[in-house]
Amino acid sequence: MLSQDEVFAELGIGPVWRLREAPSAAPGSAIHADLANWDTLAEAVAHCTACKLHATRTQGVLGVGDRNADWLIIGEAPGADEDAQGEPFVGQAGKLLNAMLAAIDLQRGNNVYITNLLKSRPPGNRNPEPDEVAACQPYLLAQIELVQPKLILALGRFAAQSLLDTDETVGRLRGRVHQFHNVPLVVTYHPAYLLRNLPDKARAWEDLCLARRTYASLTSES
Ligand code: URA
Repeated sequence: MLSQDEVFAELGIGPVWRLREAPSAAPGSAIHADLANWDTLAEAVAHCTACKLHATRTQGVLGVGDRNADWLIIGEAPGADEDAQGEPFVGQAGKLLNAMLAAIDLQRGNNVYITNLLKSRPPGNRNPEPDEVAACQPYLLAQIELVQPKLILALGRFAAQSLLDTDETVGRLRGRVHQFHNVPLVVTYHPAYLLRNLPDKARAWEDLCLARRTYASLTSES
């Protein structure tokens, strides 16, 4: 899998802190380079043809919630419900995510922004492929730049591995605070996984508590 810097180099744009300065896409790139505001970003995702998923999706699913949120939640990819409704986490996994957020006194839309690593649904809910992750990464980075979250919660293997540029399992990445471009990042299990693996809910609860403690310590410092 390409590193983040290699992906940026391929696409001819700078890393996240330079996205605002990126004037135009690399010649031949299918990515719309002007991702520096929500309108152009939404437009770019809606019309994106940068990977093969555009041919099978109903619509691009950008994200939902408070665009100035302190909490940024990053899942894997839209499923069938999300693809139909244009909003992340509206199916069964979304119900569990809402409950997880409520457990730490958060709710979708209130100081929380929710998005996915991929903005288009992989057919049959198959796993994201490396070229799809690479093609979609500028959109996620642009969202991080626009939201300026205080804390990122990465849900599941694909979000965690892609953001942290590692092959480590969720089991090894959870339980500690990572950094993504100086933003604290906590990894936990994906709600869809938790629906099938109930015993890991206790670990997910520990992760949520870690995220909440980390956030509290950050906000008490400022
Ligand atoms: N799973 C995800 O990772 N994201 C969604 O939006 C829905 C299910």
